[in-house]
Amino acid sequence: MEDDIDQENGIKITLLGNPGVGKTCIISKYIDDTFEENEESTIGANFMEKVIKRGDKEVLLNIWDTAGQEKFHSLGKHFYKDSYIVCFVYDITNQESLDSLKATWYPDLQKYGEKYTVLAVVGNKSDLYEEDNLADEAQAKEFAKEINATFFLTSAKSGDGIEKLFNTLADQYLSPEFAPKAKEMIKKRGPSFSVKSKNNKNVQEKKKCC
Ligand code: GTP
Repeated sequence: MEDDIDQENGIKITLLGNPGVGKTCIISKYIDDTFEENEESTIGANFMEKVIKRGDKEVLLNIWDTAGQEKFHSLGKHFYKDSYIVCFVYDITNQESLDSLKATWYPDLQKYGEKYTVLAVVGNKSDLYEEDNLADEAQAKEFAKEINATFFLTSAKSGDGIEKLFNTLADQYLSPEFAPKAKEMIKKRGPSFSVKSKNNKNVQEKKKCC
């Protein structure tokens, strides 16, 4: 049945961006409510899962944390496949990390990504808003508009904006505007998201890595 597209897989969300912008920390804050002051660089990619409720549905989010380092960049293209939600993350205290979204990460998505994708531009480390030399937020918002993405500010340290980020993206994915496109893609490609009955508690939060 079309609405039961999947039981095993989740909505695949991929976080992309330069090293150190806080991709791992955003996910850890969201999944475990933890924050590491000295988080190690990601090697390759990890993913974590979380079941959330949107309306009367339970939805499995499958969140991919990719390595920002140049040496892993060539792996990136594999993570775009079946990723119908992509977050472009920059550090609000680092203009270069914003520039890279335009110069590198977004062009890669255009090359390797899915035809229809829910997009977000995420300015992380909003707890450092008072610092000098911040990245140009107007430019980030303009970029978000250009690529039809939603702009978010988050702090993985304080947790500000983190729940809102994932809830909004899940809602956009499940919306009447996007869901039919998702269904069409999933029909062609196989399942990529899961809508579970209220009482199904089989899927627990878990962490895997590869
Ligand atoms: P790679 O794995 O190298 O691609 O980096 P990443 O984007 O996953 O960054 P990571 O989550 O490892 O965070 C890098 C550093 O930034 C860590 O030492 C964190 O403590 C710090 N950091 C992450 N998010 C925040 C935040 O919201 N506020 C502040 N103040 N620091 C943060």
